[in-house]
Order: sequence, then C-alpha cells, then structure tokens
Amino acid sequence: MQTLNQLSALRDYLSPLRQDGALALVPTMGALHEGHLSLVREAHARAAHVVVSIFVNPRQFGANEDLDAYPRQLARDAALLAGEGVSVLWAPTAEAMYPSGYATNVSVSGVSEGLCGGARPGHFDGVATVVAKLFNQVQPDIALFGEKDWQQLAVIRRMARDLDFTRPHVTAILGVETMREPDGLAMSSRNAYLTASQRAAAVALPRAMRQAIARIEDGEPAAPALAELESAVISAGFASVDYAELRDADTLAPMPAAGSTPGRLIVAARIGKARLIDNMAVAPV
Ligand code: PAF
Repeated sequence: MQTLNQLSALRDYLSPLRQDGALALVPTMGALHEGHLSLVREAHARAAHVVVSIFVNPRQFGANEDLDAYPRQLARDAALLAGEGVSVLWAPTAEAMYPSGYATNVSVSGVSEGLCGGARPGHFDGVATVVAKLFNQVQPDIALFGEKDWQQLAVIRRMARDLDFTRPHVTAILGVETMREPDGLAMSSRNAYLTASQRAAAVALPRAMRQAIARIEDGEPAAPALAELESAVISAGFASVDYAELRDADTLAPMPAAGSTPGRLIVAARIGKARLIDNMAVAPV
C-alpha cells in the first residue's frame, strides 16, 4: 500500500492502476473501526483497486466542535488498511487540500437543511466541498459511504448528481449499511469519547429507536413515539437530544406518521463529550 499526501503523486500513482479495472474510493476521517473496514471490503468486491482517504476536514467542524479532539491515529489506520489490501492511502495535509488563498465552497440546499444541518450550521457545506474535491482528486468509478450518516449520504448524492459527478461520467455512489456493536450501538469514531458508564448507557439510543419504530409501524403518529424516545434516552443518562425525527428515506421530507414510501427515523443525541447520531428504516404502511 502506498501512503501519499501530495496530489501530483496521487495522480501519477493512480493513472496506470486505472487500466486494471474499476477504482473505488472510501472517504474517511480516520480513527478507523469495523464500520470503515466493511466499506473497504464492499469496495474490494466491486473494484480492482481501492483508495481510502483519511482527512480530518476542518471545514466541516463548527467553531465550538471537536476538531482538535477528533482522534488521529494515522499509523494504526495505515496498518489496518494495508491488512485489507488497500492500494492507496490518500492522506493529504490541510495545506495540500486547502492551499493558501483557497476560496471555493460547495453548498447543497434542501436535503442539507434541518437535522444535522440545523444543529451544525455550515457542516454540510464542509462535507460537500471536501467530497467534491476528493472526487476530482481520485476520479473513482465508485465511492462508498456509511449509511450511519444518512443525511450526509443524501447531501453527497444530490451534490454528485447536480455537479455531474455521477455515472456515466464518473462516480457511482453506494451507501453501506451501518455496522453495530453486539449490543446495537452504531459504530462511530466518536464512541471513543465515551467513559465506560456512558458507553453502557449509550445502548439506550438504538433500543429507544427500535421501540419508537415499532409504535410508528403499528400506525401511531410519530410525535408521541418520538417524545417517548427522547424521555427514555434522557432517563438513561443522555444530556440532550438534538433531534429525533421521522423523515422520508429519500427526500428527507418530514413525515407525521409512517406513509406509503419508506421512512427513516433519524436521531442525534449528546452523552458526555460525544454527540451520537443514528438512523433506522421505518417500513411503509
Ligand atoms: O463521514 C465522514 O467521515 C466525513 O464526513 C467524510 C465523508 C469523509 C468527509 O470528510
């Protein structure tokens, strides 16, 4: 595996690899866990070569967020990726990604509004900007993202369609199912912020989500089921719930109850130093 951090070196290295077949990109911010590795394995099933990017993107963190604390473990991550047969680890420096004078922003309206877009102003501009740059840098045939960031996936799909990144021109975008710990907690690099007791309490989130979904799929309106979810996670030790909403799985339009199209229960809640996000499918009626 080659670890590269300059764009000219990346382009030179990738150019002959493209002759072998499809090239897949797995964009990450590092601190890799089984969820990331499942994306890498899925990428290998679909492409001859896999590029993984690791870049803790400052533009997607707000002023009071965890940019400085975000776990950085490049040597450990590189060893994991080498073990998975990854061809290239693309780990640009902040200066290579945003050279002095950098002035361009990619902003997606609609699907980026509300949910994490409401709680983290500017976050999705940062995500769309860096992902657009990664697509141009690597020019993959396929790019894989975790479904845990459901709204992020919707923003990236919209951006890729609108800016003509998607097939037949460049990139097919694949969402990969969330990997969970044995007790049901969604895997996340931010789970590392949890103390042992917070980690034990955190399981209340997926549990309360499943209970809310059972009620909604039974025909109850979403509002009381979501109020119950909120009080269950607060009683379990969460400090607050940023949002807990039922949305249309594709358009992200709010849904008052299960409808004729697939829904998605999407939640963000804070415990200790961690802000955990999760989402689950809600079946149509
Ligand atoms: O999901 C992430 O890890 C990041 O938001 C991404 C897509 C790599 C962009 O920085």
